[in-house]
Amino acid sequence: MIPRHIAIIMDGNGRWAKEKKLPRVKGHAAGAEAVRRTVEACREMGVKWLTLYAFSTENWKRSKTEINFLFSLLGKFLAGEEKNMLKNGIRFNAIGDLSALPEALVKKITALKKITGELDGLTLTLALNYGSRDEIIRAVKKLLAARLSGDVEKAFEDALDTKGMPDPDIIIRSSGEMRLSNFLLYQAAYSELYFTGTLWPDFGKDEIQKAVKSYSARNRRFGGY
Ligand code: IPE
Ligand code: IPE
Ligand code: MG
Repeated sequence: MIPRHIAIIMDGNGRWAKEKKLPRVKGHAAGAEAVRRTVEACREMGVKWLTLYAFSTENWKRSKTEINFLFSLLGKFLAGEEKNMLKNGIRFNAIGDLSALPEALVKKITALKKITGELDGLTLTLALNYGSRDEIIRAVKKLLAARLSGDVEKAFEDALDTKGMPDPDIIIRSSGEMRLSNFLLYQAAYSELYFTGTLWPDFGKDEIQKAVKSYSARNRRFGGY
């Protein structure tokens, strides 16, 4: 069974660079290539939803240099991928509090969402300045402002950034860390978890296929038998 929605915590760029005695940012640049390979592999397999954790609400704790590099890399990545997205029917999406990101990047994100909005191949969602707790608090604020009544579960889920997205079937984390680090905590209620020691810049088709194979062999019970 091919999972409908794969979500990935892309981790290990810094360690990859360190192993090679390179600056951390080189790890991020190599990580962008791994994103390309992963999107391509998922598309080939017929995965409909791919969500990638690119910058967490906690990643602001890093140096200004690293943060600026990440945003600049992201801008270049999006500009460079536009053609490929249109050619391959990839619909672009973003979750997280985009209001804190550089204006030029937000503009690029908004434009790309619009240009690819009607495509019906894979939906590629980047989690940017995303934190599950922040998402939940923002949702609660929206509901309080709207004086919510009626179907609370539906209203709550619609107030989350992931409105309209299916929950992830599998969450993959690279680099050997075994935690969720504030990623999709509500949505992960019944996700299968897959951890691999491979560092993110070494990620590609083989790794994705291994994860999907592991997923296929699992028995999802959702609290039943
Ligand atoms: C993941 O790699 C990328 C981001 C969190 C932006 P890291 O930068 O966390 O790499 P490690 O964990 O230090 O190796
Ligand atoms: C999680 O990785 C965030 C992203 C992959 C964007 P981190 O490297 O920031 O997570 P921790 O600090 O090891 O939990
Ligand atoms: Mg890390």
